[in-house]
Amino acid sequence: MSTPVYFDCDTGIDDALALAYLVAQPHADLRGIGTVSGNVDAAQAARNTLDLLAVLGRDDVPVAVGEHDFLTHPYDGGAPHVHGANGIGGARLEAADRTVDGRSAAQLLVDLAHQHPGALRVVAVGPLTNLARALELEPRLPGLVASVTVMGGAALAPGNVSPVAEANIANDPEAAQAVVSAGWPVTLVPLDVTMAHVLEQAHLDRLAAAGQEAPRVLASMLGQYFEFYRDIFGRACSAMHDPLAVAVALGTAVPDAAPRVPVVVDTGDGPGRGQTICDLRGRYRGLADHPEATCRVVLSLGTDFAEDLTRALTAPVAATAAAGA
Ligand code: RIB
Ligand code: CA
Repeated sequence: MSTPVYFDCDTGIDDALALAYLVAQPHADLRGIGTVSGNVDAAQAARNTLDLLAVLGRDDVPVAVGEHDFLTHPYDGGAPHVHGANGIGGARLEAADRTVDGRSAAQLLVDLAHQHPGALRVVAVGPLTNLARALELEPRLPGLVASVTVMGGAALAPGNVSPVAEANIANDPEAAQAVVSAGWPVTLVPLDVTMAHVLEQAHLDRLAAAGQEAPRVLASMLGQYFEFYRDIFGRACSAMHDPLAVAVALGTAVPDAAPRVPVVVDTGDGPGRGQTICDLRGRYRGLADHPEATCRVVLSLGTDFAEDLTRALTAPVAATAAAGA
């Protein structure tokens, strides 16, 4: 049985990998994509997404432009030092010959939730502004979706844009707090695991040498990302933030530890702004689920996800199978 999915992204190099991985999963039924400002602005993220979908043979998937500014403050120019000025590492994709859906991303999400009540899986790999706006538009949304999986936060690991904050949450902490407190089942896929699963040069070489166009296009984006991570890991390689969130959402990567615990986002103006404060005080007695908590926090994941991702992206079906799904 296929799983209807709404994907919310700020495309972005690792967002592009995540999207390619998502469309390569035969049981995932990608019903719509919303873009949000983050790595680049929401409009550029939509252009990148449309162009990549054309490469992936998925021109059928609606793409809606989401929020340009964050809930309480304006977008401030993104992360060109990480993802390049165009968000996809300077790669030049052929322009897709279609345009965006007329709805806002929040409206698209609400519409899909009504079309697939109780079944829609939401996967968010950028700032959570669109999801927060969708909660404002449709207060019944938490009861309509099956799950919300978020690439974001840092539980016990350090942050990546401040000592304690991860970029997606730090860009819009108020939206993140609205999402984690909405009562729907949220799974956070934080830096604790996304920095532990790394794409190495040998994986990149396999993407670059693949027979199909899609993995070669992805490889052409990754040079910039590998260089950014050289300073962080001491070698050219790449964290796999967003694809790992997709894999957790779809059950193709199964966490070893993902306790359900209280999570609060720091929305203050001090040095902790954007921190995901996860109550892990139970860790010394085995981290049982907290009876009232609605957020799971993925803390470890033992599979060789770099290998799984590389295989999925270079499999002959990757570029075409989902088109007929
Ligand atoms: O912190 C990593 C996250 O920030 C990823 O989703 C990346 O694409 C950026 O949005
Ligand atoms: Ca992202």
